[in-house]
Amino acid sequence: TEIFGERTNSAGLAFGDSVALTDLMRGMDGADLEGLNVASIIGGEDRPGPEERDLLSPNDSQPIAKLSEADERMAREAVDVSARGFREWNETPPEARALALERAADLLEVNRDRLMAILAKEAGKNLEDGIAEIREAVDFCRFYAAEARRLFQPQPLPGPVGEENQLRLEGRGVFAVISPWNFPLAIFLGQTTAALAAGNAVVTKPAEQTPLIAQEAVRILHEAGIPTSACQLLLGDGRVGKAMLDHEKIAGVVFTGSTEVAKLIQRQLAEKPGPILPLIAETGGVNAMVVDATALPEQVTDDVVASAFQSAGQRCSALRVLYVQEDVADTMLKMIIGRTKTMKLGDPALATTDIGPIIDEEARSKLAKYAGSREGLVYKGDAPKEGTFLAPHIFELGDEEILEREQFGPILHVKRFKAGEFDRVLKEVASTGYGLTFGIHTRITEVAQRLAEEAPAGNVYVNRNQIGAIVGSQPFGGMGLSGTGPKAGGPHYLLRFAEERVISTNI
Ligand code: SER
Repeated sequence: TEIFGERTNSAGLAFGDSVALTDLMRGMDGADLEGLNVASIIGGEDRPGPEERDLLSPNDSQPIAKLSEADERMAREAVDVSARGFREWNETPPEARALALERAADLLEVNRDRLMAILAKEAGKNLEDGIAEIREAVDFCRFYAAEARRLFQPQPLPGPVGEENQLRLEGRGVFAVISPWNFPLAIFLGQTTAALAAGNAVVTKPAEQTPLIAQEAVRILHEAGIPTSACQLLLGDGRVGKAMLDHEKIAGVVFTGSTEVAKLIQRQLAEKPGPILPLIAETGGVNAMVVDATALPEQVTDDVVASAFQSAGQRCSALRVLYVQEDVADTMLKMIIGRTKTMKLGDPALATTDIGPIIDEEARSKLAKYAGSREGLVYKGDAPKEGTFLAPHIFELGDEEILEREQFGPILHVKRFKAGEFDRVLKEVASTGYGLTFGIHTRITEVAQRLAEEAPAGNVYVNRNQIGAIVGSQPFGGMGLSGTGPKAGGPHYLLRFAEERVISTNI
C-alpha cells in the first residue's frame, strides 16, 4: 500500500515521499529499542534523577525503558542553563534559526521508522496515527522555520522626513514548554520549535507518560544545530513543572493539556513577582457534530467513526456529541454501529489495528468508570484483556442532558434533534463553555453556511471529519474553555512568543 503523499499538505509542507507499508513495518521492527534509559537532558548531557523506575507500554503493560525523572533542583538548573543560552540564540539570525529547524525536519524523516516504533510502543499509536504524527512534526518544523524568516526581519515603518522607524521582533527569554501525551512528538515539537523559531531558549517538560519520544526529539534538535544551551529536556511530574515555572527567569509558557491545569498555571504565573507573563494554552473540548436529514449517510458514517474513535478518541479535536436529525437518526445510528463493529483493537504496530490502547491504566479506569455508570448505552465493542484498552462505546443522551465534561477516549454520545432546531443545538453546544472543533454534515449550502458562521468553535469542518488539522492549512485552536489562542500552525502563532520593539531614529 502506498501511504505517503496521498494527503499532502496544500501548503506543500508535508514530506512527499511514498513508502510501502511493508517497508515501514520492517523498519519499525528493526529499530533497536532494547535497554533504553530515559533521562533529562541539561546542557547537552543526559542527567538521570534521584530515582529510577520502569516506563510501561500501554499495549501490554510491559517495561520498555528505565526512566529516571528530575527533581526540583534539576528543574532550576535547567532554567539557569537556558537563561544563559538565551542571548546567543536570540542573536542568531532568523535565517540560521530557520535552517536548524529545517535540518530537524530532515532528521525526523531520516529517523521515521525508529520514531514510529517508539510512538507505537510508548504512546500506543497505530500506523496511521504514527505516520500522521511524524508528518505533523515535520510540518511544524518547516512551517515555523518559514514563519521565522517571514516575521523576524526588521520591518521599516512610516514616519516624517528625517525619522527612521523600525519594528523588530525578538525572543522573550526562556519559554517553558509543557506538552501532552496524545501528540507526544507533533505537539511537543510544534510548541518547542515555535518558541525556538522566535528566538527563545526553552525548557521542555513533556507529559510523564511519553518521555522517550521527547528525548529522541530533543536529541534531533541538538543534532540539527539548536545549541544545547538553548534547549533542555526536563522529565517529571507536576512538582517538577511547578519548580520550573517558579524560576524567576521563565519568560512565558506554552501548554497543551486540560483547562484545569491551564488555570493552575495561569494562577501560578500571576502570583509570581516580576513581569506579567504570557501563557499560550491549548486545552480540551466537548466537540459536537450536527447531521441533518440531507447529509450523505455513508460519508457521515465514515466521518463520525473517524472523528470519535480514531486514536481511541484521545484527541482534543475528537467528536464527543453527535447531534442527528431525528428523521434519519435510526438509520445513521445503525450504520455508525455497523462500521464501529468492524474496528479492530489491538497491537498498534500491526497494519490491521484501527484502535490502540488508552494511554495508561489511570486514564482507562476513569473512562471505564464513567462508561459503566451512565445510562443510555446503545453500543459497546470488545477490547483486549491485556494492556490498557477500552472498547468503543456509544450512548444516547437524555432529552434534557448536556454533556458538560470532555471524556477523553472512544466514547461517543448521540442526541436527536427535530428539523429546524439548529438554534437549540447551537445554544446547547455553546452552553458547555468549550469551543474547539465543530462538524457539520448537510447538503444544503445555506444550512452549512449558517451553522459554520454561528458554530461556537475555533475549527469548523463541513462535510468531512473533524480531526487531523493540517499545519498551515487548518491552523488549530479553540476559544472559551478550549484555549487562549493563537492557533498552532497558523500565521499569528509565533507573534505570541515574541517581544516587539520599535526603534525610532532621528537621522
Ligand atoms: N491537532 C489535532 C487534531 O486536529 C488535535 O489535537 O486532531
